[in-house]
Amino acid sequence: MKIRYGIVSTATIVPRFVQGVKDSDHGVVHAICSRSLKKAEQMAKELDILNAYGSYEELLQDKDIDIVYIPTPNYLHYEYAKKALLANKHVLLEKPFTLSLVEAEELFTLAQEKNKFIMEAQKAVFLPITNKIKELIEQNVLGNIRYISMHASFPGNYTFDHWMYSKECGGGALFGSNAYTVEYLLHLFDVKTLQYEGICVKAVTGIPESCQFQFVINQNIVGASNITMNVKTKNEAVIYGTKGYIEVENYWKARKMKIVVEGNEQIIEYPCPCEFVYEVNHVNECLLNQCFISPIMTKEKTLLSVRVTEKMNQLFQNPSNDFTFEISKL
Ligand SMILES: NC(=O)c1ccc[n+]([C@@H]2O[C@H](COP(=O)([O-])OP(=O)(O)OC[C@H]3O[C@@H](n4cnc5c(N)ncnc54)[C@H](OP(=O)(O)O)[C@@H]3O)[C@@H](O)[C@H]2O)c1
Repeated sequence: MKIRYGIVSTATIVPRFVQGVKDSDHGVVHAICSRSLKKAEQMAKELDILNAYGSYEELLQDKDIDIVYIPTPNYLHYEYAKKALLANKHVLLEKPFTLSLVEAEELFTLAQEKNKFIMEAQKAVFLPITNKIKELIEQNVLGNIRYISMHASFPGNYTFDHWMYSKECGGGALFGSNAYTVEYLLHLFDVKTLQYEGICVKAVTGIPESCQFQFVINQNIVGASNITMNVKTKNEAVIYGTKGYIEVENYWKARKMKIVVEGNEQIIEYPCPCEFVYEVNHVNECLLNQCFISPIMTKEKTLLSVRVTEKMNQLFQNPSNDFTFEISKL
């Protein structure tokens, strides 16, 4: 049996996602849509997809689609996930799931009422490398974990008229990448408590362009996560324990990592052509087994991530939270 995907929009990420479906064991892309029929037909031709629609609503009415993948600008995630559930489709919704906790909770409740699957697309937690790191941490190979350093950037080359620079569209580095930080940590560690603080520099349009977050997990692991857009940084996560450390480049799509324990260095690799395949295989398995809430990319991970990101956004938008020290006044 095949799980038939409908793709909402011709977003930049779509060709990579479609490759993941093609590489998966039970997935097939049935249709794609766009606000413009011409764009939909063009991408359908390029990616070898049989059906193309000139509106999102038309795709949602296609009875031969089991699940819709929604990679629209962030502010449209809630609206189209809700429309998809109401049209009796399962939903795979890109990160950040929604811009507010209220919206996220409503989507999970609606999915339950409609007996439909809904999951935030978070490929990082399905990667074999991520799960190897989790296993090594749990086996205490690094000793007690003390410190984590994370860097993520997307060079993008966005201009100010792009939705990624619009506050109303949920643009900016915070909504763009904070879910990676929070959900990666929640997956790797048994997080009982999480302290989370942040600072940022905003673009003239008001969106956070470069952010730094400091966090404490379970009152004993300290960490920092830097996320930025329109700058190419070294992207990595480094996890330090009392016996050694793990370094993983591009941690959200990694196939390789370096582990150094008591001076001995080892490279561990899991090559694969398209990193989306693990996530898609998981979604397919859930649907084939009539399991409508992922046991891995859980509702709890998504809700906490949305909550933290919403709080950070409130902090960044509220100048009364600013503790700037002016040197001349010291
Ligand atoms: N999981 C991952 O690895 C990953 C990577 C990158 C991005 N993402 C997520 O995927 C989503 C899309 O990101 P992207 O960078 O691929 O986006 P993008 O290239 O800017 O594409 C967004 C698409 O949304 C549609 N759209 C609808 N209303 C729009 C509007 N007002 N302005 C602009 N486009 C509009 C357009 O498609 P039509 O013209 O065809 O309607 C457009 O192509 C985001 O939520 C992002 O966080 C995930």
